[in-house]
Amino acid sequence: MVTTRTPLIAGNWKMNLDHLQAIAFVQKLAWSLKDAKHDFESVEAAVFPPFTDLRSVQTLLDADKLVLALGAQDLSAQDSGAYTGEISGRFLSKLDVRYVLVGHSERRTLHAEDDGVVATKVAAAHRSGLVPVICVGETAADLEQHGPSAVPVAQLRAALAEVPASAEIVVAYEPVWAIGSGQAATAEQAGQVCSALRTALADVAGSDAAAATRILYGGSVKSSNIASFMREPDVDGALVGGASLDVDEFASIVRFQAHVGV
Ligand code: 13P
Repeated sequence: MVTTRTPLIAGNWKMNLDHLQAIAFVQKLAWSLKDAKHDFESVEAAVFPPFTDLRSVQTLLDADKLVLALGAQDLSAQDSGAYTGEISGRFLSKLDVRYVLVGHSERRTLHAEDDGVVATKVAAAHRSGLVPVICVGETAADLEQHGPSAVPVAQLRAALAEVPASAEIVVAYEPVWAIGSGQAATAEQAGQVCSALRTALADVAGSDAAAATRILYGGSVKSSNIASFMREPDVDGALVGGASLDVDEFASIVRFQAHVGV
């Protein structure tokens, strides 16, 4: 089937760069991509700064008419009310945030977010008009015990429990053992799991939705390995952590088409 999935390169800054650093970084990134005549329509680039940076980055993107997309790293399962410290998806929408990470492995591990919490956050994102980037992935122990796709597929099915089949989503396959380890999955491993995720999506949401949904790979992505991932038919982009904090490196990942001839 011919699809029109625009590749998405997303930079998850995690808890790095304050709002002043964020402004300087985004300006430099936009100049670097413009200088290189990057075609933003052929590869979408998005940054996911900490909450406290979002307003500053939004203002910059708006003032300079920059076509970088803005994402947040988490959201509340609730829309408003007595939830001290939480951030509503509605507030994020007002800041022109388009994407929001849900179920990143660091949230699952360090903040005890289980599949039920992830499903309610996916629903909250959808209610607020945000596109959830649903993060799934197995640990090294899961891999040994269940093989490569079982855990990510089960996590994806659970995450979709509270949204209609028509909800726009992005899926990010991030094997936990590959995050921040410098040891990326092989392109073949990533391709196989992304293919299994697409099959599960077709089962849950229908084959048209599955064909239209972008599935990203994440885990030690760099400019030197992005090309191999992007050659896999079911990999539609990357969720980049460490390498997204270096302007030249991230710009080079976004421009993977220019230097590898994919
Ligand atoms: P690294 O690219 O640093 O491995 O991080 C991946 C990640 O967790 C992105 O969300």
